[in-house]
Amino acid sequence: MSETKKLYIKTYGCQMNVYDSERMADVLLPLGYEMSENSDDADIMILNTCHIREKAAEKVYSELGRIRKIKNERTSNGQTTIIGVAGCVAQAEGEEMLARAPIVDLLVGPQAYHRLPELIRKIEEGERGLLEVDFPADDKFEKIPAARSAQIIARGPTAFVTVQEGCDKFCTFCVVPYTRGSEFSRPVEKIVAETTRLCASGVKEITLLGQNVNAYHGTGPDGDSWSLGRLLYELADVPGLERLRYTTSHPLDMDDVLIAAHGDLPELMPYLHLPVQSGSDKILAAMNRKHTTAVYFDVVKRIREARPDIALSSDFIVGFPGESDADFAATMKLVREVEYSQAFSFKYSPRPGTPAADMDTQVEEHVKSERLSELQALLRHQQHAFNQNCMGRELPILFTGKGRNPGQLVGRSPYLQPVHADAPEEYIGSIQSVGITKVGTNSLSGLCAGGNVRSTFNARPEILSEGTTL
Ligand code: 5AD
Ligand code: SF4
Repeated sequence: MSETKKLYIKTYGCQMNVYDSERMADVLLPLGYEMSENSDDADIMILNTCHIREKAAEKVYSELGRIRKIKNERTSNGQTTIIGVAGCVAQAEGEEMLARAPIVDLLVGPQAYHRLPELIRKIEEGERGLLEVDFPADDKFEKIPAARSAQIIARGPTAFVTVQEGCDKFCTFCVVPYTRGSEFSRPVEKIVAETTRLCASGVKEITLLGQNVNAYHGTGPDGDSWSLGRLLYELADVPGLERLRYTTSHPLDMDDVLIAAHGDLPELMPYLHLPVQSGSDKILAAMNRKHTTAVYFDVVKRIREARPDIALSSDFIVGFPGESDADFAATMKLVREVEYSQAFSFKYSPRPGTPAADMDTQVEEHVKSERLSELQALLRHQQHAFNQNCMGRELPILFTGKGRNPGQLVGRSPYLQPVHADAPEEYIGSIQSVGITKVGTNSLSGLCAGGNVRSTFNARPEILSEGTTL
């Protein structure tokens, strides 16, 4: 009797990679595979990799070292194992990786994973060392089966939908324009159809993904080019959809319609990830960000006018080439003025092939580390203050799964905070009102007030963030 073959996918990096891993499963499962949580018993193992910062590739090589032992053991038991590396490391370092890690059977870039079935077939026929990193003319989204695998339903009430991919902005530190290619937007009808299908199968919250999501300009059913704002108004009407989010945005692409949508659509959650990277105009120019701090402050002002309680998040890079103490102080000042609900911050990491890697004003490692800890202390303080402002409030929580303790569930607030509460398992997948009784830096906990709050939530009038300075 032949057993069902097993597929294991390990995902590194951003949410787009999570989405891509799910789509790889969609193309491979129909070939007779089932998902495995475990690399030891997998017939196909795929590492879906990230190249955004250093050590990403090194992590992949060390994982390949671990996998080599598993593969050897399986080979001695007469079992075959196909090892694939997908994503941005495959795209950027494919040839080098084939030379350095001969156990890798195939490398597939982010634009080519719809070719996986034919690549796997070739490997089954005895070929090895396949490299598929072109930016093909055919659209991968069209090649992926429409109906997502039944397993997606088991993944819970939230789902990602990629609407836009690639980037034409060429920030001087960033590999994305090279690994993901130039901007591409999916047509409106495809996105509406995918969202409708997901919501019909029980998904309540959709996060629209794009490296530059608010540069979205997909073709609408009327033949016009639609902006992200217009797309959001359309998606808000999809039956069963309770919550909408989108990430990641560029400050220059926050147009009036998108900002208005934050005021008009109760489904659009009051959370915006809006990377600024630096608070110094000199550094923003060297980064080729194409916006100044004044432009950023203006967007923040307009979005807060539209949705006063909006939670703002950002990405920061410290130690970009040429960053002086004064430039870093300007970043700290910007953070104090904006007040974030949370944010991500990184030490600048030179990426081969990007313009900033060749700048001769690189900042010393210990300076980067000191600046990073100073910035992170401020951001942690602001995150805690934001969470503290939720104490005693009732928030609508979309429960997504079981919590760590027995009888406990975990979910997300509109502001994307993880929230724990004791609640029956049948609440998973529903939005419940939770009174917040305990606050930490990273999460909240509270008591279920009972009563499914569904779409009645609209916290617009309430301002959460009040004068938190360090
Ligand atoms: N070094 C450090 N951080 C980087 N990011 C992108 N490229 C680099 C780099 N070379 C950060 C940016 C971006 C986030 C996804 O990763 O802050 O917004
Ligand atoms: Fe990278 Fe800049 Fe494009 Fe963002 S906008 S993906 S940081 S090049």
